[in-house]
Amino acid sequence: MAKHGLQILQDSFLNKGTAFTEEERAKYGLEGFLPVGIDNEEAQILRVKEHLSLLDSDLQKYTYLAALQDRNETLFYRLLMTDPALYLPIVYDPTVGEACLKFAHIYRRPRGLYLSLKHKGMMKEILLNRPEKDVRFIVVTDGSRILGLGDLGSNGMGIPVGKLALYTATAGVPPQGQLPVLLDVGTDNPNLLNDPLYLGLRKTRLEGEEYYALVDEFVQAVQDVYPKCCIQFEDFANYKAISLLEKYRDKICMFNDDIQGTASVTLAGFYSAKRYTNMNIKDHTILLMGAGSAAHGIADLLCYAMREEGLSDEEARSHCWMFDTKGLVVKNRERLEEFKKPYAKDFANTTDFIDCIRKIKPTAIIGVSTVKGLFTPEVIKAMADVNANPLIFPLSNPTSQEECTAQEAYEYSQGKALFAAGVQFDPVDYNGKTFYPAQANNLWIYPAVGMAIYATEATRVTDKMFLVAAQTLAEQLTKEQLQSGMLFPPTSDILKTSLQISAAVARVIFDAELQGAEIKRPDYDDHIIKFIEQRLYHPFYV
Ligand code: NAI
Repeated sequence: MAKHGLQILQDSFLNKGTAFTEEERAKYGLEGFLPVGIDNEEAQILRVKEHLSLLDSDLQKYTYLAALQDRNETLFYRLLMTDPALYLPIVYDPTVGEACLKFAHIYRRPRGLYLSLKHKGMMKEILLNRPEKDVRFIVVTDGSRILGLGDLGSNGMGIPVGKLALYTATAGVPPQGQLPVLLDVGTDNPNLLNDPLYLGLRKTRLEGEEYYALVDEFVQAVQDVYPKCCIQFEDFANYKAISLLEKYRDKICMFNDDIQGTASVTLAGFYSAKRYTNMNIKDHTILLMGAGSAAHGIADLLCYAMREEGLSDEEARSHCWMFDTKGLVVKNRERLEEFKKPYAKDFANTTDFIDCIRKIKPTAIIGVSTVKGLFTPEVIKAMADVNANPLIFPLSNPTSQEECTAQEAYEYSQGKALFAAGVQFDPVDYNGKTFYPAQANNLWIYPAVGMAIYATEATRVTDKMFLVAAQTLAEQLTKEQLQSGMLFPPTSDILKTSLQISAAVARVIFDAELQGAEIKRPDYDDHIIKFIEQRLYHPFYV
């Protein structure tokens, strides 16, 4: 180690705290900085768990774990990876929503990179000044649409920080090459502008050409300074998210998780349902409640899957319907936004969702509206009237935004619904049977896809990668799990599942010859899993 003494204890990647051995303490000048007792990792984990048990709220636990991550990354990841089902809801959804709302109030120390309008013309210089020299993943947000909570400005930094932690905790992407980024272009949220503790730019949002030029400067600076980096765009307002994806997807290694990750996990729900109903994707008619980024991503990937099953582009799009604040998305709507046109239908204008169900007879309804309760008992009953097993996917999160609960879906469909939600619901007892509701969370997808990108040094991110990720996720489900209503494996199995997905996606990358120049494809396809395993992060001290 080039560092010495206190420098080592203050470096979250090098710090082992009380687990430094006597030899290490002598060698690195740590004598006297630590109590004489020496812990092993198990004892350290026990102490962390004891601290956590003293805290009352998830937000307090979130803050405690953030401090642990700042102090000792190995211990932080070891805790998360030993029990992901328990800790992921604390470090990420749903707690991260509350953490972002209160970000400026619970703020303690910086993590990640804050780039603002003030840094126009200086971004490359700022990146060159960072201690990280080989950044492989950036998650960037401008805070304009955080979860379903709207414009949270610079408070949105909780999202890139949390998402990157999940790359490691759920798929083994090494944390050393990660960088959370907040692009601060102001906020239109009056509560933040009037909050004395708010830490972002106190001005209304930059929009238009100047905004896109600033994003361009950021993207270019990343290409120049971190040529192997993949940029994940996250929680940008829908019109920006869609246009930024279109602008960059064929030029650099990037993806938008709200659009493509959500789409992939939703498609996985359809593939799992197929194992139950025998219905191909092309046999479905889908009605989306919401026509924003998530809805477009889902519709686009479902259409891609339908085309793979033999439909034409036009036929596939005719299977996907959208409904938003103005009602059914139809061609004769006044001022129809450009990005909605591909899914607009020749159909009568209507604002009655139940009437749409009766006329269109969708096999699946997907909630991506950010509005709680839109899947009313009548909506669910109407779906059960026209389907033997309706797919009911209320994907909005956090909990304050879900379109319906699992209890409501099973009860009002009389146990017929195949259900997946954006949040995790407890098991539901209905009519003598226990149902285990699935959580359609994109954490099933993007970390595993990320691990494949990291391992292969992929130069682009394609739809095929998300399609194969979805298929592989659905294949991981056991028959027993399927029969108990689950459409995704339990979160406790996520590391195992992610490994399979990463290997399958890496194969797609090799097939398309999108791997980095220095990466050699393994000689046999069944060696790809080993290729991934050799590059996984393990939360052990070295
Ligand atoms: P968005 O803001 O781009 O889109 C929301 C859409 O819902 C808009 O088209 C809007 O017109 C529509 N809408 C709003 N109120 C409505 C109403 N009363 N009736 C009908 N439509 C209405 O947001 P985005 O990015 O598409 O996300 C939507 C939701 O999905 C959010 O809650 C987000 O957290 C959630 N989501 C969940 C994911 C998961 O893994 N489960 C991943 C990504 C997003």
